[in-house]
Amino acid sequence: MNKRLDHLNLYPFEKLNKLIDDVTPAIGQKPISLALGEPKHSAPSFLIEAYCDPIAITNGFGTYPPTRGIPKLREAIASFVSKRFNLSQEINPDTEVLPVNGTREALFAIAQVVINGSGLTLIPNPFYQIYEGATILAGSATRYIPCKETNNFNPDFSEITEAEWRDCSLVYLCTPGNPSGSIMSIEDLQYVIMKSDEYDFTIVSDECYSEIYSATPPPGLLEAASAMGRDDYKNCLAFNSLSKRSNLPGLRSGYVCGDSNILDKFLLYRTYHGSAMPVQNQWISALAWQDEEHVAVNRKLYTEKYEAFLEIIKPVWPMQQPEAGFYLWPKTPIPDEEFTIKLLSQTNVKVVPGSYLAREVNGVNPGANRVRLALVAELEQCVEAANRIKQFFKHLG
Ligand SMILES: Cc1ncc(COP(=O)(O)O)c(C=O)c1O
Repeated sequence: MNKRLDHLNLYPFEKLNKLIDDVTPAIGQKPISLALGEPKHSAPSFLIEAYCDPIAITNGFGTYPPTRGIPKLREAIASFVSKRFNLSQEINPDTEVLPVNGTREALFAIAQVVINGSGLTLIPNPFYQIYEGATILAGSATRYIPCKETNNFNPDFSEITEAEWRDCSLVYLCTPGNPSGSIMSIEDLQYVIMKSDEYDFTIVSDECYSEIYSATPPPGLLEAASAMGRDDYKNCLAFNSLSKRSNLPGLRSGYVCGDSNILDKFLLYRTYHGSAMPVQNQWISALAWQDEEHVAVNRKLYTEKYEAFLEIIKPVWPMQQPEAGFYLWPKTPIPDEEFTIKLLSQTNVKVVPGSYLAREVNGVNPGANRVRLALVAELEQCVEAANRIKQFFKHLG
């Protein structure tokens, strides 16, 4: 048995289930979950209609899908990325794009390609737990970088020592961030690119919340590289998916774009791993990347929910709409686990303790005394949750 498996941590939602196993939720109140980041808005109807085409399904069922992706999908992704991230030179659909089955599997798999059984991987803290599991199984050590409020909840790379940069083989970025919704600036991204020039490591930028923003579209890693005149995207990989952008978490469809040398090796790895996307899913994904109308509608729904939720809750519990994403990341007046249990038992609203989304380093867990609220449910449910939480705060005193 692979001994590295023993070092994997329990997933945050399993920890949450254990925490609340014995909790009896408030009687007479329907359960509302603000815990899981699973979009609940409807999938775009034009995509559902297109997906129900019997000829496309028959063809898809009868075909072993190409791991590299069908040209129509690679072209649609290349065009989306080039336009959305203001690239001075169009992404090459043949060499700089790979479709993936959602970012989750790809964020895991890429570590197995770029880590050579040792070295150091830099991970923002709090973080999406896949980064950690991927790093451990690939045989690299983890270096968590705390995302402090004083640094707009972004990792402060200036605290990485020369020796750590030298050991580094991979850096995970998450922008917009989960759970904070903070955005890394072009300059911050360029700082990491310059370090990778110096120390030659891969930068993996998880940008799966990039299309859920309040005002300005967040910049991406390839945009930062392009603005430096770096059209080969050396060492840079950007990951994104249709899960949040298009409310298609069940389609399992995303992309990785960037450095063609790394993607060449990643394609080789994926061919062996057997992670090709079914052709009918590739075909429908191409239509989704080509349409922006449904994405704008989706963004508006989140804006409406933030406005309604915050208007009710802010007088009793200070928090603000983040720059992007669909989470809130407020401080709790009592320890986060206790808060989660009490809230569930008194209101039947489920949230995630912040400490479950981060790792304790040198006695400090940057998620402690915070909770993550996901505004994924429909507006009515979010408003109902806000009203229940407001009452809960009155009793908390
Ligand atoms: C930060 C982050 N990255 C990646 C993912 C995975 O998304 P998907 O695999 O659906 O693209 C999630 C899902 O919640 C996430 O929060």
